[in-house]
Amino acid sequence: MVLQVTVETKELSRTFKGQDKPVVALDKVTISIEEGEIFGLLGPNGAGKTTLIKILTTLLLPTSGEAYVGGFNVANESNEVRKVISLVSGGETPGYGILTSRENLWFFSQLHGLSSSAAKEKINRLFKDLKFEEYANTRMSKLSTGYKQRLNFARGLLNDPRILFLDEPTLGLDVLTSKKLRGYIVDWAKREKKGTVLLTTHYMAEADEMCDRVAIIDHGRILVCDSPLRLKEKLRENIIMRVEVSSVQADFGFLEKMAGVVGSSQTRSIQTDTTTLKIMVREERIFSEILSKLEQQKLKILSVNKAEPTLEDVYISLCGRGFEDQAEEKADA
Ligand SMILES: Nc1ncnc2c1ncn2[C@@H]1O[C@H](COP(=O)(O)OP(=O)(O)OP(=O)(O)O)[C@@H](O)[C@H]1O
Ligand SMILES: [Mg+2]
Repeated sequence: MVLQVTVETKELSRTFKGQDKPVVALDKVTISIEEGEIFGLLGPNGAGKTTLIKILTTLLLPTSGEAYVGGFNVANESNEVRKVISLVSGGETPGYGILTSRENLWFFSQLHGLSSSAAKEKINRLFKDLKFEEYANTRMSKLSTGYKQRLNFARGLLNDPRILFLDEPTLGLDVLTSKKLRGYIVDWAKREKKGTVLLTTHYMAEADEMCDRVAIIDHGRILVCDSPLRLKEKLRENIIMRVEVSSVQADFGFLEKMAGVVGSSQTRSIQTDTTTLKIMVREERIFSEILSKLEQQKLKILSVNKAEPTLEDVYISLCGRGFEDQAEEKADA
């Protein structure tokens, strides 16, 4: 079977007016996504992910370059593009608070022009598939974040999109709800056979689990684009060590300046007063230097293990050390 390219950008750029100087949100982005692919866009805050999604979903015009979705140009065939896509953003309010889940879906089904019988059938199916039938008659304002997001998904699928854009679809959801929604997205793409998904996420494991290919974007530029497996394989030339040390307060800033350190991240645990460092080095020798620097700080080294490369390591190696924020978030969770 020959797969068709269904999302394509050519040297796509977008600049915003900044306070002092223009902000380049996208800088000559060229990607192509095939029908049936689940494609992940990863990158730090402000990297340009939402800007790219907004352009592809016709909510924003590019400054230069071209973008095609379903074969249509997003800039001058926006009506055609809108017929074949849907956008679901994490944390978004999926409708009107005073309406129930069912009433909200009914309202949006009518905006899409579905007949009464088709809308009824579709809505019942979505309640069933997304497993929130018991909340069908609950007012949206009373739904928890997880159920609001299910409603958001249901709304996004009402028009049977060919291409689904998901901007941080599992933002703020608990582990089990995220897992269910991830499973649902993968099933949806398979069931639709040619259902294509472009998603952004900050959860590396999520991208690893779901995506056929991922692109890592930083400062508006695509740094790499490949399957998670191949990206991890490329890291095997480095050595990745996980070191657990006593104290959450020690200064690990020296890692950023050390030659031969490809990347590092920290996860602090306040409860146990320990920090787990993940350090990627080019040669074993550098790692010995790191250990002695840690010992000089009078830290107790609790454990040292060699680690297999993960997508998070790929991200760290490309986006540098700007990963501490997420590591701290994890520690707080
Ligand atoms: N409407 C706007 N006006 C001015 N600057 C903007 C606007 N929208 C986005 N930007 C800037 O463009 C850059 C890219 O933003 P974008 O929202 O695409 O990032 P992101 O990768 O989605 O980040 P996050 O992970 O935080 O969601 C940022 O520097 C942002 O401040
Ligand atoms: Mg964003």
